[in-house]
Amino acid sequence: MLHDIDYILVSEKEIELIVSRIAADIDRDYKDSDKKLLLLCILKGSVVFMGDLMKKIRRPVEIDFMKVSSYGSGTSTSGRVSIMLDLYRNDLSDVDIIIVEDIIDSGKTLSYLCEYLKLKGANSVRTCTMLDKPSRRQVDFSADYVGREIPDAFVVGYGLDYDEKYRTLPFVGVLKPEIYTH
Ligand code: PRP
Repeated sequence: MLHDIDYILVSEKEIELIVSRIAADIDRDYKDSDKKLLLLCILKGSVVFMGDLMKKIRRPVEIDFMKVSSYGSGTSTSGRVSIMLDLYRNDLSDVDIIIVEDIIDSGKTLSYLCEYLKLKGANSVRTCTMLDKPSRRQVDFSADYVGREIPDAFVVGYGLDYDEKYRTLPFVGVLKPEIYTH
């Protein structure tokens, strides 16, 4: 697995610093809130970041999971998102949600999910991503908490996969081009 990695883009040490910074920001921002805070992990890629982040946040949080798939070609801006696994709870009126993502690419997934959760009646919805590729955006979207902006490279590890591999690497690495070009 390691020999498929060209170079490390975000090291374990940097990831640790990023997670601590975001957890402290979240604690600060929700200090005076009397609502429940729900960390909503979008499967599967976000599961590693979610696990680290939830341990670093000091205030009480609840957790939940959704799984979505987005369709449409890379050049389409009308990409549809379909929900494969929905939130368990129905009443979101007393819940502040932070959606936790591993990466933002086109922005379609998070912009859809924000709308969806607001329509479902969430008290508030914010977004948090470990990695952000602003150069790939197809819809106007920016997250509230961003770990690191990265260039448009093929990244794997820390939850991110190529063909379901590499998710368990503890760092974010750039895949060697020969692995994904045929
Ligand atoms: C990735 C990532 C986001 C989405 C971002 O998930 O975890 O959910 O793509 O892309 P967008 O900004 O273009 O919408 P993916 O579909 O690879 O699923 P996975 O997390 O299960 O690997």
